[in-house]
Amino acid sequence: MLFWRQSRYDQAHAISHLRELLHLHPEAPLEMIHAMLLHDVGKAAYRIPPLYRVVHVLLGRAPHVYRALLHRWKQKQLLFPLIVLQEHSRIGAEWAAAAGLSERTVYLIAHHHDENARDVELQWLQRVDDL
Ligand SMILES: [Fe+2]
Repeated sequence: MLFWRQSRYDQAHAISHLRELLHLHPEAPLEMIHAMLLHDVGKAAYRIPPLYRVVHVLLGRAPHVYRALLHRWKQKQLLFPLIVLQEHSRIGAEWAAAAGLSERTVYLIAHHHDENARDVELQWLQRVDDL
């Protein structure tokens, strides 16, 4: 099961967020519950040291600089954890699709970091993820 592939930190994060989601939106459909539990599963593609998570958040405040840095240095193994963090939505969606989860769940995972989302359930997921 994909959920167990995640680090304990990401498992706890997912469960905590699911609780908050169901508190705010008890009507959330099953596909959304699956997405909430697995939205960050793509991070399991690599054992990411905690320092990289901090760097990822800090660089995320300057997305142009972040993208340029990764593009310029993408061959450097030192940056591989940051590339996984940048790509985790796509990786997680691919894993969810391969595991047979619904198209809706795959969509929510793939787009959970999209800016200016118009999909209401995606907005719910993003709001909880930003708490
Ligand atoms: Fe994420």
